[in-house]
Amino acid sequence: MEPVRVTVGSVEELRARGFLTGKAGAHPVCVFWHDGGAYALDDRCPHMGFPLHRGTVEAGLVTCHWHNARFDLCSGGTLDPFADDVRPYPVEVIDGQVVVVAAIESFDAEHHRRRLVDGLEQGLTLVVAKAVLALLDGDPSVGPHDVVRVGLDFGTTYRADGWGAGLTVLVAMANVLPHLEAADRPLALVHGLAFVSRDTRGRPPRFPLTPLGSQVPPQRWAVWYRRFIETRSSDAAERTLVSAVDAAADAGAGLEDVEAMMTAAATDHVFLDGGHTLDFTNKAFEAVGLLGVDTAPQVLPTLVRGTARATRAEEGGSWRHPVDLVALIDSALGRLPRLLGEGAALVGSWNDPSGLAWAMLGEEPGAIVDAICSAVAGGATPEQLGRAVAYAAALRITRFHIQNDHGDWDVVHHGFTAANAVHQLLVRAPNPELLRAVFHGAMRVYQDRFLNVPTARPPQARAGVTLAELSACWDEQGRVDDAGTIAYSWLHGGGDPGPLVAVLGRALLAEDAGFHWYQTYEAAVRQFHAWPLGSEEGRLILVGCARFLAAHTPTRRELAQVVRTATRLRRGEALFEET
Ligand code: FES
Repeated sequence: MEPVRVTVGSVEELRARGFLTGKAGAHPVCVFWHDGGAYALDDRCPHMGFPLHRGTVEAGLVTCHWHNARFDLCSGGTLDPFADDVRPYPVEVIDGQVVVVAAIESFDAEHHRRRLVDGLEQGLTLVVAKAVLALLDGDPSVGPHDVVRVGLDFGTTYRADGWGAGLTVLVAMANVLPHLEAADRPLALVHGLAFVSRDTRGRPPRFPLTPLGSQVPPQRWAVWYRRFIETRSSDAAERTLVSAVDAAADAGAGLEDVEAMMTAAATDHVFLDGGHTLDFTNKAFEAVGLLGVDTAPQVLPTLVRGTARATRAEEGGSWRHPVDLVALIDSALGRLPRLLGEGAALVGSWNDPSGLAWAMLGEEPGAIVDAICSAVAGGATPEQLGRAVAYAAALRITRFHIQNDHGDWDVVHHGFTAANAVHQLLVRAPNPELLRAVFHGAMRVYQDRFLNVPTARPPQARAGVTLAELSACWDEQGRVDDAGTIAYSWLHGGGDPGPLVAVLGRALLAEDAGFHWYQTYEAAVRQFHAWPLGSEEGRLILVGCARFLAAHTPTRRELAQVVRTATRLRRGEALFEET
């Protein structure tokens, strides 16, 4: 297409004033006179849109007066990476008139990917947000997964400690994208990426180990891996893992054996790192599922160091006294092969995960373990067992009384998100060893029983509630029970759950959320969808989510403001205006 030519004034005027302004299509442009020549730039500072013609030109540099970003007058390249390069335009002088030549700007995905990495490196959320918006808007061939991939590459490379909260948030947000309003999806990705950036800043990078390159019998990998994790030998465990992943790829096999090996090692001890180890393991496999099996050699080894170093809950007093919960679990696990044998003939005849969940809220740990054993012997599937634990853990949040210490929200959150991870793992890759995590999760729910004493009043359905009422709950502190009641009433009255889930997501993304909030929201969305539509279980799970969010809002809401700024800049709106 022919470039547009725009006359912005005469050379005489330009010399006299030092600059001229005009419009090239929708874009404001500015032409400066400097050192005897004319130079045109987009008139909006790429940082936050200040009119550059109101800046200063000196020694070949344009300085924006809002935050003092400096630009090379010829190329538009910035000397201050928090800003970005400003678009230059060719200028021609024709018959004493100054003419700006504006060609249609082509979409340059590589440029935006580079800017995204710049933003991640330097912790510049505005740069990250602008790059995400540009990538998602620019070309239908570039989608959210491409953005997640950039974050994943960055997060797995630049954190010696490996998989952490940042990548977990990024994958959680990628998982919930279909449940959010379209307008909130870029914001969700920016939240995840901002977390990745924060999680890597000032930390050493990771130096991956290479596969052994020898023919080891495949059954050895799991034996070695579990032994090395047991003895906290993370380098040996990592070399084993990369070799196992490599061997699986060579054999054209899937990752099922690798996943079973890793989840076995992550459940050889009780509730590693407060449940985070299993949660991170699940998220890493979800990332591989989302982005492709070719990411496995890059992603999975990042779990090793954390798994080897994780605290083992059985070393803590609360799992040993006054009741030795670990011994109780071990005794049940001794019976498990027989129970599984009994249950195998009855699969399909057991269908009471809800009843099992309520049994898990009981006061007697022995009775809880027995209830799980009975369910196994009665034919409960791994998925049903995982769903029961996750529901019991969700009910701890739904029934959490606000007279508890505020920090105790994190306690019930840990039980819930770990149980959600166990459920997801059992859905994707069930194996008998992973069933140990069901017992671990149930005992964790048992330990949190005092956080439901007294129990929060069960929500009572009200007629005529609106989601606008729910949104108002985030603006005032302490509207925990109101939020729960509105969410419950909405669903009880037959309201569409989709908009409710989206409104809860918007509440999360509007705030400067903490790590646990993303986990809670994502787990609630996943668990809600694990139950039949219209079920009481689904309702109570979302009630818990609404209560959790209301307990933590409002915050300063800075991140959402940054993304709003980036969106307005992209639309070409004037951010700087004199009143
Ligand atoms: S430096 Fe130009 S708007 Fe901030």
